[in-house]
Amino acid sequence: MVGGSVPVFDEIILSTSLMDQVLSFQDVSGALVCQAGCVLERLSQFVEERGFVMPLDLGAKGSCHIGGNVATHAGGLRFLRYGSLRGTVLGLEVVLADGTVLNCLTSLRKDNTGYDLKQLFIGSEGTLGVITAVSLLCPPKPQAVNVAFLGCPGFAEVLQTFRTCREMLGEILSAFEFMDAECMQLVGRHLHLACPVRESPFYVLVETSGSSAGHDAEKLTAFLEHTLGSGLLTDGTVATDERRIKMLWALRERITEALSRDGYVYKYDLSLPLERLYDLVSAVRARLGPGARHVVGYGHLGDGNLHLNVTADAFSTAVLDTLEPFVYEWTAGQRGSVSAEHGLGFKKKDMLGYSKPPEAQLLMRQLKVLLDPKGILNPYKVLPAHA
Ligand SMILES: Cc1cc2nc3c(=O)[nH]c(=O)nc-3n(C[C@H](O)[C@H](O)[C@H](O)COP(=O)(O)OP(=O)(O)OC[C@H]3O[C@@H](n4cnc5c(N)ncnc54)[C@H](O)[C@@H]3O)c2cc1C
Ligand SMILES: *[C@@H]1O[C@H](CO)[C@@H](O)[C@H](O)[C@H]1NC(C)=O
Repeated sequence: MVGGSVPVFDEIILSTSLMDQVLSFQDVSGALVCQAGCVLERLSQFVEERGFVMPLDLGAKGSCHIGGNVATHAGGLRFLRYGSLRGTVLGLEVVLADGTVLNCLTSLRKDNTGYDLKQLFIGSEGTLGVITAVSLLCPPKPQAVNVAFLGCPGFAEVLQTFRTCREMLGEILSAFEFMDAECMQLVGRHLHLACPVRESPFYVLVETSGSSAGHDAEKLTAFLEHTLGSGLLTDGTVATDERRIKMLWALRERITEALSRDGYVYKYDLSLPLERLYDLVSAVRARLGPGARHVVGYGHLGDGNLHLNVTADAFSTAVLDTLEPFVYEWTAGQRGSVSAEHGLGFKKKDMLGYSKPPEAQLLMRQLKVLLDPKGILNPYKVLPAHA
């Protein structure tokens, strides 16, 4: 997406894949300590066998390393429920540019002894140090999971449904994802997945995870009766068994696969205030007109995160120039983030200014010089060449 892990000029690639050991697991607190090269899915299996889950889950789980997740501050599908890695990572071991081993690998939930140094490395994309071990807090595994797939007549109703959902489902709400009608059409056309509800301008996937199946089902039913009755929804379906739950999630998770079969894809991952989230999709659609095949919007609504994908017959600088810097300027105008998930890497480093003021960019530069004076850690990435 941004070429963050791609060598561009004269870099040396460092692999952590042999550092794949779990170092300890506390089955009362759920604190897991492991080496940086553990694959996320393997860690998930490890803690699930012990009655816990990883606080993060994402499409790349079968190949991504926990060290890479921390280095990119990955969000993913459980963010709404368990929060960000800035909260769930308890400690890190990091090798600094001069070879110093910084051992901040504690498993404490509270530690107010001055600057929280581990935070510097979370989301630093390998530019400040090499993460070698991670300590993080795993929540208990939910006993009951339900998924509802809903149709909404408009984006205002999507937002209202989200509000109602938080009010009525409370602590059992674990995911709230949205997609527009064009996403559903593409998933149908390219992957032959059928839409499970009446055709609608928007769709919402709601997941609940709780400790009591009966209690959760009761809450979900009350929520559906209320929203269907008040015109917020056009239609809805609920799944409680694992097979149907997977089927409904596939509609959301496989959107990007469907898009990649549609043509060349221009991609943006943005954070925006919820009320304006979909306006950007409409603005881009209007701006591109017939220049694009499809302009789609979907994402983790609960996190204020919009995936904006534009498909076209082939790459063209004309389309790119219509999209950029328009998308970035529009986002900056809302004080949004030009990179909600995938970082800055190589391709977006010069966009930093759209989301951070000059003073913040300068401080980033000073920190980089302090920790990596020779510029040997993931060079040419994250920081703009001229800042
Ligand atoms: C199908 C798919 C779905 C995804 N869905 C989501 C999503 O929902 N939410 C989300 O936030 N992200 C998502 N991502 C992106 C995902 O967060 C990253 O791909 C993943 O976290 C990176 O881990 P990795 O081990 O593959 O790292 P790499 O790609 O190898 O590296 C990524 C960056 O981290 C640095 N790095 C890696 N390991 C270390 C280390 N040990 N110490 C220091 N720096 C290091 C590298 O230098 C590089 O800059 C998705 C990706 C894919 C392919
Ligand atoms: C669509 O955009 C998102 C960024 O929000 C990206 O993760 C995804 O890979 C893109 N899809 C394709 C097919 O490129």
